Amino acid sequence: MNKREQILSLGEEYFAEQFAPKPFEPGVTSLPANGKVMDASDLRNLLDSSLDMWLTAGRFSEQFERKFAQTWGARFSLLVNSGSSANLLAFATLTSPSLGDRQLKPGDEFITPASGFPTTINPALQAGLVPVFVDVDLKTHNMTPEGVAAAIGPKTKLVMAAHTLGNPFDCHRIGDLCKEHNVWLVEDCCDALGARLHGEHVGNRGDLATCSFYPAHHITTGEGGAVMTSRPYLKKIAESFRDWGRDCYCAPGCEDTCGKRYGWQMGELPAGYDHKYIYSHIGYNLKATDMQASLGLSQLERLEGFIAKRRSNFDFLQNALRSRGGEEFFEFPEALPGAEPSWFGFLLTLKSERIARPWLLEQLGQRKIGTRLLFGGNLTKQPAYLHLPKRVVGELTNTDIIMHRSFYVGVWPGLTEEMLDYMAEQLVSLCRSFATK
Ligand SMILES: Cc1ncc(COP(=O)(O)O)c(C=O)c1O
Repeated sequence: MNKREQILSLGEEYFAEQFAPKPFEPGVTSLPANGKVMDASDLRNLLDSSLDMWLTAGRFSEQFERKFAQTWGARFSLLVNSGSSANLLAFATLTSPSLGDRQLKPGDEFITPASGFPTTINPALQAGLVPVFVDVDLKTHNMTPEGVAAAIGPKTKLVMAAHTLGNPFDCHRIGDLCKEHNVWLVEDCCDALGARLHGEHVGNRGDLATCSFYPAHHITTGEGGAVMTSRPYLKKIAESFRDWGRDCYCAPGCEDTCGKRYGWQMGELPAGYDHKYIYSHIGYNLKATDMQASLGLSQLERLEGFIAKRRSNFDFLQNALRSRGGEEFFEFPEALPGAEPSWFGFLLTLKSERIARPWLLEQLGQRKIGTRLLFGGNLTKQPAYLHLPKRVVGELTNTDIIMHRSFYVGVWPGLTEEMLDYMAEQLVSLCRSFATK
């Protein structure tokens, strides 16, 4: 066995020794709301990529981008260093002057739900676009086509929204609405890898889609994310914004991919200026490393199993809560007809404010049951967003209910039925004990 193969095999042995699963002890074993599932093949790939000593985007990144695009059903995927960077990149792409009168500019309006994660909307806010906030439906926790239709006005140029906790919004009807009104659609699928609507993976009705590979997500690369599109002109712009804004599209370490490195004249630069240093956009460096991509590849191999386990965990927890009378205390999430969610968590909404959420979450925490809120709740109420120039269409009634009464618990693949059963039992018995106090 050569030295490289010895290191890789030793890595697998080390993983088996160090990270062997421990038996579940109710009330002692921690049951976080999100988590990563690693195995020896992940460590093997990480070691393999580090032994290359290439470090920046290389053979693993190229393979990951190709395979991930296939999984998604899109023509292109671009690997970046986080889901937030993916959102930044997707948004920035639409600010390219090469898009002519469709270029997003300060003062343009964009429609988004008030309930959500901040970095879905931050790139547009930072660029001076005006948010138009809409309410969400209380069953799916998503914006609706009716809500979007009511919010579209003469200044609307973009709809940018997430598929909440892996439960698809109606991207087919909202996609059609956007086309009809010449409005861009960016689908934030950071929590929705594997979710489908009418058989099609989410993220393919929008002009661009994003995904996150932070450890809480369906697959992980440590930190990481991706932007997907099937439009070659948007892919070319996105690549430029990701890679410093340059016009050149050579992969790291490559030269003269276009075959005329010294044959360009752009802007007011002299003819023959090195294409590697010609900038057609005011860009960033949002690239990820090859180690991240290598981990993404081994995780991607197991994606179908991860999604299936998330779905079966969701169903199991729902049944376990129902069989204990949990519906007396909680509203459960629902999916649209034709939707196959790829659940990120199980969102529970307390039916009344009589049971204090902070009390319940604290009690659950003491029993080692992790919980999370639906991110920022009503973003318009967050300190950083209070004084934003904005439009709000209709009342944010359901968003406020979510802000006051919702939270989620885990269904990620590291949770077993025994653990979920314990969670259901504690959730219901705590509510019952509070109600009879
Ligand atoms: C809907 C949504 N968008 C974007 C992000 C940001 O992803 P990241 O943490 O990889 O930056 C998250 C994070 O979980 C998210 O839930």
